[in-house]
Amino acid sequence: MKILLTGIDGYIGWPLALKLSKEFREAEIFGIDNLARRKWVEEVGSKSVTPILPMKDRLKVAEEYGFDNIRFIYGDLVDKDFVNNVIRTIKPDIVLHLAAQPSAPYSQINLDRAYYTQKNNVLGTLNLLWALRENELTDVHFIETTTTGIYGAPNINIGEGFVKVVDEEGNEDVLPFPNIATSFYHVTKGFDATNMWLMNFQTGMACTDVRTSIVYGINTEETKKDERLLTRFDVDFYFGTLYNRWCSMIILKRPLTVYGSGNQIKPFISLEDCCRSLVEIVRKGNKGEYKVYNQLTEYVRIRDLAEELNKKSEELFGSSPGIEFIPNPRKEKEESKYKFKNDEFIKLLNGKYKKMFDELKDTLEILDKYRNTLERLRGRFLK
Ligand SMILES: NC(=O)c1ccc[n+]([C@@H]2O[C@H](COP(=O)([O-])OP(=O)(O)OC[C@H]3O[C@@H](n4cnc5c(N)ncnc54)[C@H](O)[C@@H]3O)[C@@H](O)[C@H]2O)c1
Repeated sequence: MKILLTGIDGYIGWPLALKLSKEFREAEIFGIDNLARRKWVEEVGSKSVTPILPMKDRLKVAEEYGFDNIRFIYGDLVDKDFVNNVIRTIKPDIVLHLAAQPSAPYSQINLDRAYYTQKNNVLGTLNLLWALRENELTDVHFIETTTTGIYGAPNINIGEGFVKVVDEEGNEDVLPFPNIATSFYHVTKGFDATNMWLMNFQTGMACTDVRTSIVYGINTEETKKDERLLTRFDVDFYFGTLYNRWCSMIILKRPLTVYGSGNQIKPFISLEDCCRSLVEIVRKGNKGEYKVYNQLTEYVRIRDLAEELNKKSEELFGSSPGIEFIPNPRKEKEESKYKFKNDEFIKLLNGKYKKMFDELKDTLEILDKYRNTLERLRGRFLK
């Protein structure tokens, strides 16, 4: 089996490559990346809290631990000749497409960044889908981590990808859920979802659209083996995600920043379960459908999460950082009544998954080792 993994140098891509290597020993894993994430984070004046080796050294360390079926290909997915060449040469059975510019605030900085994000993400996906089609490889299983952000914050429950619609004459249909994302990044994933749906409709290509929620945590079973195998961990305003940023704030004893009222409901999944479920999606296969999973294990109101984290911090360290409510720098709906459906997704995990605080102590212990780096990044939490 040949697996093409795009975005191998990223937060999820790297630990996923190691897990794929362990779970599919007979597979050849080809990881593509143009290392752009390293540059974007530098550009906004930050860096990964965990030290990240150059890719050739990362792979050497991985090999020492038996993850020896991974190869790296440097290149940009926006370059259609590069993509076509890779697809034609490798002829993958599985494409796991993770490469994207994934930061909402970065895509909102100005037209240049919005343009870059939309071109990078949408054309990268289009090039892959069409290279597969033009090389007569439509029997591939194409899997992309899109985002739960496509759903926006509606006042109706969110099914896995689809919604029942009834018109004023009582006619009914089940249609793809509309793209009501609220950033110029998030809408790219709605566009990708439509392009996957269309490619499946026209050619029968198996497309699995994994609506990824906010991923948190620092370790997976595989990266635990050696600190040099750790994935990147960003905490800055642009590239850090909610839970990971708050863990860093606990280490620095700085109040946890809650945007606006804090009544926003956000979905989450641990890094371990995110990678494990992607492995299970590969294992399960897809017989020519456009299939959507809501890749989340829990969803919470963010002010409740901030309070819970304060309590946990008190239990673990005898002190809590407090909470700082700040004006919401994002234009988003703060009140809504939706619930997420994720039954199909939870089946993939056999009903077993990590709860939000299971790994907190471990995460904080690792971050504490990089306290000096965190101190230097203290000024990067806010814009
Ligand atoms: N981390 C999360 O909480 C989260 C939540 C929802 C969705 N996602 C999605 O999951 C995927 C992975 O997220 P992540 O957090 O690991 O992001 P990441 O930025 O750490 O990883 C993406 C990788 O893709 C590479 N890349 C980007 N554009 C490229 C291009 N044109 N050509 C080649 N390589 C390119 C980057 O260099 C980076 O290493 C993304 O598609 C993201 O939108 C992530």
